[in-house]
Formats: sequence, structure tokens, C-alpha cells
Amino acid sequence: MSAIDIIILAAGKGTRMRSELPKVLHRLAGKPLITHVLDAASALADARITVVAGHGMDLVQGEIENFQGELQQRTKNSCPIKCIEQQEQLGTGHAVQQAIPGLDNSAGTALVLYGDVPLLDTRTLERMLASAAQGKLTLLTVVLRDPSGYGRILRDSADQVIGIVEQKDASVDQLAIAEINTGIMAMPVTRLKEWLPQLSNDNAQGEYYLTDIVALAAQQKIAIETLHPESLEEVEGVNNRSQLARLERYYQARQAETLMEAGVALADPARFDCRGRITAGRDVFIDINCVFAGKVTLGDGVSIGPNCSIANATIGDGAIIKANTVIEGPVTIEAGVQVGPFARLREGTVLRKHAKVGNFVETKKTEFGEGSKASHLSYLGDTRLGKDVNVGAGTITCNYDGVNKHRTDIGDNVFVGSNSSLVAPVTIGEGATIGAGSTITRDVPPNSLSVARGKQKTIEGWQRPEKKRT
Ligand code: UD1
Ligand code: CA
Repeated sequence: MSAIDIIILAAGKGTRMRSELPKVLHRLAGKPLITHVLDAASALADARITVVAGHGMDLVQGEIENFQGELQQRTKNSCPIKCIEQQEQLGTGHAVQQAIPGLDNSAGTALVLYGDVPLLDTRTLERMLASAAQGKLTLLTVVLRDPSGYGRILRDSADQVIGIVEQKDASVDQLAIAEINTGIMAMPVTRLKEWLPQLSNDNAQGEYYLTDIVALAAQQKIAIETLHPESLEEVEGVNNRSQLARLERYYQARQAETLMEAGVALADPARFDCRGRITAGRDVFIDINCVFAGKVTLGDGVSIGPNCSIANATIGDGAIIKANTVIEGPVTIEAGVQVGPFARLREGTVLRKHAKVGNFVETKKTEFGEGSKASHLSYLGDTRLGKDVNVGAGTITCNYDGVNKHRTDIGDNVFVGSNSSLVAPVTIGEGATIGAGSTITRDVPPNSLSVARGKQKTIEGWQRPEKKRT
């Protein structure tokens, strides 16, 4: 297959977003709009991508670099992506023209995409490319009940496409046409190069319209084919925050559907958000209002309570994550573990089989051995716990001396009494017991008892002071 040149138009300011951020960097499902387009485009064989940027070009370029890095990591493939500047937004035709000098001269196919149309399916793009590879000008069109605002597809009496007229240039009759231009089109590069210099800006908006190439093709009797997407949402653009929110819900509903088809039970698919990727086993249950991000793997029978936020975690078979738990991975949770309610597991937390982390417990860079528990109100950072350790309520690892972080090492079968402070670096030997309320500053030998707190004093028959009478 010959090379594919994909031109992504992304110079527009996006005035209606009312934002400092360039429109194409607004996020859908946690990912910038342009990255969705880059994902679909880079999945095409032999693709080379040129992004035409304008407003916030530096930021757009930065995002493209992120994308390339991640693509390389994820697929070991790279896709050449250039970012070029359109200094003034003089129209879609002018924008494409900016990309031309950088394109390969050989007989490839060009595909024009918009950076603010995020949900195009790679399969739709493949159909367009197959059509354009036959020398045709291929347009992606849809029929809308309300076509207002869009360019209308003009056809002759034999139903052949003869041009596109923009809303602002259209006659009353033309405005009644329901078939509209999505803006997505493909054609041989050689044709595109020949047509672009012929565009003029003699129209209602004073812009160089890319859409005017359609009439040029028709005059030359070049075959023009129209194709349609599988769904309308595929070609929906984002111009304001309300459209973005609508597309987000559509996207989330589709993801929820896919998960349910794979055997996941969702308490309410309308209250489910995945801003990353979930892989799930069978009979997983996810309650309402959970937000997933990054890469999340859920084993068979995992149950997730309401209002959890889970990012970059691997959760083993039968684990139970109770309400309002926050997981900020990378975090590994093995089979049969219980977490929450109201737990916060931070990066580097590893919970081995049947471990338990209860309410108001925060963990960071901490490994729990099999069956170890911290059931209430603790902070455990830079810590290793062996097997079957019991950490009493209110236990804190003092891992930070204001400059450096230090480690706490707790052996198998240790019992840490409630409200203890473990001042790191410190090692608690296997089988040791720590009395409640201790501040442990020195290593504790195995199978010993350490109590480090003020001794209790008792005064019998103590009289409380009384208020003086005046
Ligand atoms: C364009 C089409 C219209 C189609 C509609 C679909 C033209 C002349 N009109 O109209 O037929 O129905 O899209 O949404 O092509 N852009 C640039 N540089 C520019 C101008 C635009 O990069 O100088 C980018 C924008 O950022 C945007 C895309 O091109 O991503 C479309 O531009 P927009 O102004 O939204 O075009 P419409 O007027 O909506
Ligand atoms: Ca638009």
C-alpha cells in the first residue's frame, strides 16, 4: 500500500469553549481531543501525520510528543507526526495548503481530519482510504434532521455530487438539503496539490474553503464518492463544553456497554466513568459513581463499592474494594484482599493475599504480607509488613525527618498496639508486640514486648479542685 498522508486541522481557537486551553487539548475520557484523533489515525497502515496548529501551538506540539512516546511504549511502533503552524486562520483550504510543502511527492493518498472530531473509527477511515486509493475524491457525509450550520452536499439530477455550499453562502433551496459535509475527506495527493491553488476566498466568510475542491473535481469529471460513518457521534465535532459533555456521556455509555458484554455488572451504566482502560474478569461488580483512570485490571469476582476512584491498579480475584476508596497507583492488590471504606492507597502499595486495609488508612510505598491488617486510622509509608501483622488503630509510621524518607520494616506476626508511632528507620522483629501508645525509636527484637510511653500514675481519693465562692 502506498503512503497515507493524514492532515489534521487543529488551528482553530475554539472561541466558544471560553478557555485558555486550545480546543483540541480539552479532554474527553481523560484524553485530549487531538489524542483521540491521533490514536485513530496512527492505527492506519503506513500513515504519516501532519497536524496543522495555530492557537497554542506549543502546547499542541507538547501533547503530540507525549502521544508519540506513549505509542512507542505501547506498540513499539512509531508514526511520523509533524506539527506545522497556520499563523492566520484563513479557512480550511488555507490550512490544508500549509501542510502541502511537507507532504511526500509520490502517488499517495491524503486524508483530512479535524482535531476537534474525536470519535472517528479507524474502520471508517479505512473505507475512505480504500475509496480514495481508486483515484476518487471521497467525502464522509451524513443526513441530519437539522443540518443548520453545516456545508450542504449539492447533487445534480443524476444524484452525482457537484459541490458543497457553506451555510452562509447557501440559497434558501440549498439550505433545505439535509445531507451535510462532515469535513472529513480523502483524495489522491496529486489531485489535492492541483486543486488547492485554485481556491479563492470570494465567499460570504472571506475564507479559502477546502470544500470548494469538490466543484473542481466535478468539473474535471473526477469520480466523487460519499461514504457514511457507522454512527453520527463518530463525526460530531466539539465546539463548546456542552457538546463535549454530551460526547463524553456517549463515549462512557459505549465503554459501559462493552464491559457489560464482557460479563461485568454495573449498578448503573449511566454513572460509570473510565478515563483509561479496564480489563475485567467474570462476575465483577462495580457500584455507582466510580471513576477509573490509567490501566486497571480487575480479576474474577472483584467487587467495587460506590464512589471509588481507581487509577493504575491490578486487583486480584475476589478482592473487595468498599465505598469511597481512592487508589492512586501503581498499586497491586492480590486475591481476597479487602480495602476501605474510605481508604487511600497511594503509589507503590502492594497488598498480598487476604490483607486488609480499613477506613481512614493511607498507604504509600508499602507492602502488606499475606493476611496482614491495618483496620483503622493509620498512615503507613515506606514500609514492609510481613505476614499476619496486626497494625492497631491510629498507628503512624514517621517516615519523614523533614529532609529524607526512611523505611520501616515489620516482621511476620507482629502486633502493633493502637496509637503507636514508629519512627523510621526502624525494624520490628518477627513476633514482637508493641504496647499501645508507644513511640518506637529503636529496633525491636523478635518475640519481645516493647512499651514506650509515660507510665501511668494513680493517686487514690483524688479531690478535684472546686470553684471559689466570693
Ligand atoms: C467546516 C466545513 C463545512 C462542514 C463543517 C463540519 C469548510 C469551508 N467548511 O465548516 O462544510 O460542514 O466544517 O464541521 O471546510 N481550521 C483550521 N484553520 C482554519 C480554519 C479551520 O485549522 O483556517 C480547523 C478548525 O480548527 C476545525 C476545522 O478546521 O477543526 C473546521 O473548521 P470550522 O471553522 O469549524 O469549519 P466550519 O465553518 O464549521
Ligand atoms: Ca466546526
